[in-house]
Amino acid sequence: MRIDIITVLPELLKSPFEASILKRAIDAGLVEVHFHNLRDYTTDNYKSIDDTQFGGGAGMVMMIEPIDKCISALKTERNYDEIIYMTPDGETLKQGIANQLSLKENIIILCGHYKGVDQRVRDHFITREISIGDYVLSGGELGAAVLCDAVIRLIPGVLGNETSALTDSFQDGLLAPPIYTKPREYKGWKVPELLFGGNLPKIEKWREEQAYIRTKERRPDLLDEN
Ligand code: ADE
Repeated sequence: MRIDIITVLPELLKSPFEASILKRAIDAGLVEVHFHNLRDYTTDNYKSIDDTQFGGGAGMVMMIEPIDKCISALKTERNYDEIIYMTPDGETLKQGIANQLSLKENIIILCGHYKGVDQRVRDHFITREISIGDYVLSGGELGAAVLCDAVIRLIPGVLGNETSALTDSFQDGLLAPPIYTKPREYKGWKVPELLFGGNLPKIEKWREEQAYIRTKERRPDLLDEN
């Protein structure tokens, strides 16, 4: 998989890709992530990427031309499955979207800034708009990092234990059950006895019940969706 990220602040985005699982995935050649600075596609001496809104109003708007130049240059090199715009008014990121995107070959992620991009960018270039939640960030970069993390960890071979992504919260529409490790008892706080017996069907049943109870308590909306 290849991800091209278009941004005015590449430095804000780079560190998540230089550590942990994302770095391992890149080093192993399972994913390529490329950053493109929008200012490299400007045509004026000031390297402007934004301007005031037509019709008046506070806040700057990202101009279409540098974005067009950058996306068009990328498109001459390869076909893209999705051109995603990170924006608070996009569809809310859910595990299902991450699952879908993890199967794609090439994607572009455009990070917005200021008030956002000229609507014509959205109308003519963007195939999907994604929000990471109902709050406004100062730019799309942190959202893009969240999206990339959620997607890249699902690419086969990225997680050491292939089954571990399948048992994540949300993968079966439920939150994950409680988990424990050594010691069996700490300050008098005990691990549930049934986890020691090696009775796998019983353990599995307990985990399913716990996942259901936890989901019902914390996220009953997830149960309604099924
Ligand atoms: N840009 C600003 N706010 C955002 C959000 N909540 N999700 C994605 N991109 C954003």
